[in-house]
Amino acid sequence: MAPSHVHRLWIVEALAMQLALPSALTLTQRLYQSLRAWIQEGELGAGSALPSSRQLARELGIGRNTVLSAIDRLTAEGFLETRPGAGVFVVEWRAGAVTGTPSAPGAVAATSELSARGQRILDFSAVLSDRFTAFAPGVPALDRFPRERWQRLLRRHHQRAPLEWHDYQHQGGVPALRGALCDYLRLSRSVRCRPEQILITQGAQQGFELIARLLADTGEAVWVEEPGYGGAQSCFVAAGLDTLPLPVDEDGANVNRVPVGTSAPRLIYVTPSHQYPSGATMTLPRRMALLEAAQRHGAWIIEDDYDSEFRYASAPIASLQGLIDDAPVIYVGTFSKVLYPGLRLGYLVLPDALVEAFKRANARLNREGQYVAQAALAAFISEGHFVRHVSRMRELYRQRQARLRRALAPAVARGLVLSAGQAGMHLVAELESLDIETELVARARTAGILLSPLSRYFLQSPGRPGLVLGYAGATETEIDTAGRWLCDAWCALSSREAQ
Ligand SMILES: Cc1ncc(COP(=O)(O)O)c(C=O)c1O
Repeated sequence: MAPSHVHRLWIVEALAMQLALPSALTLTQRLYQSLRAWIQEGELGAGSALPSSRQLARELGIGRNTVLSAIDRLTAEGFLETRPGAGVFVVEWRAGAVTGTPSAPGAVAATSELSARGQRILDFSAVLSDRFTAFAPGVPALDRFPRERWQRLLRRHHQRAPLEWHDYQHQGGVPALRGALCDYLRLSRSVRCRPEQILITQGAQQGFELIARLLADTGEAVWVEEPGYGGAQSCFVAAGLDTLPLPVDEDGANVNRVPVGTSAPRLIYVTPSHQYPSGATMTLPRRMALLEAAQRHGAWIIEDDYDSEFRYASAPIASLQGLIDDAPVIYVGTFSKVLYPGLRLGYLVLPDALVEAFKRANARLNREGQYVAQAALAAFISEGHFVRHVSRMRELYRQRQARLRRALAPAVARGLVLSAGQAGMHLVAELESLDIETELVARARTAGILLSPLSRYFLQSPGRPGLVLGYAGATETEIDTAGRWLCDAWCALSSREAQ
């Protein structure tokens, strides 16, 4: 179909108007964008013919090559086609049932219903705190990290980086970091390892994902602490595993209290040094029972050792992994708590039998990277900055915990139960009812305070009512102010409940 005179005039005039507007784009880009927008919006319908490139160039007063470049690009993207001897035409580009303008707001949302698995992952995801303050759990004192020293190390290692660090890697991480970590873990955590057993990941989370995908099949069971860490649970759900509650008390997780009839586990996830969130330390008999149960079921234990550095009254507890020879344990560590979460560096200590498979699968699924940051971190550790920073933070968090206890003392005197334990980055306050929990959380939000409801840490509803109170990333003033607020709010609500 030859373009009608009116149609031809319309295209030329509309393009002339577009080109007359001020713009930082090249003429070709502006021609391309205008024509593409009109095609997508339906103003140039399927089958419409364009004026010839010669006509367009002449009437717009621009070079023919400029017009041809725009037409070539739209042809390559499938919006236009050249019919030999006839001219250039708009293609029927909307496939069958696809309707709507791609850029129209809401067009994507209307079709993006989550999978059941996707929905479950979201169910596990608490609302994230967008700033570090009282009482966001798990956030370290970001402003105390020695940023200048870190920048210097990054610069130094960036300048020295061998070319292969910019390539695809599959070594399991920078050897210097694996070596430095190995020395540290052997000494401070009694982990049994050689550098070859360490796989550097982008945080503990990526470690959990790898373990879940590589060691368990869809539908197999993973026992997870109840209450427990939702981040790890999301990874298990994402891998299609069946998450089953493993009861926890003041001696840590108890495999002997798993209800009869519970499916045998393929994986068992635990935080033995400092149970998250209750704060319990797993006793030796419980550790031995756990190892025995894992061996009996042919299961792997995932030992998440996320914040052991922060014990204020005693040395860190030795790892479960190092307790016996050939323990069926994968030890998971992270730098998110001791340094900062945005660093995205963590690690697995793998039994020999799994090392090769994990390295290969990680290189395949996640790709290795951040070698400059890894090398800088190795130097941070071997030059002694790591131990210094950890010991400074240990003292700071000890003081902040004491401060929070002082701030809440009037409520404790009236019966509020706070978790014991001189460790970690948070305390747990027990509450008398889920109603009080809900009301405190909602009221706190309007006061700019983040309260994490303990009941959300349970797989089985209704869970136990309480609050998880992170103090490590909150300043002394924030702890005092938010602590006072919580004291008053709890006292008012609990006396109302008692009436
Ligand atoms: C129990 C527990 N494990 C591990 C992590 C660390 O995860 P990542 O290294 O992915 O930041 C956290 C962080 O909140 C945690 O609370």
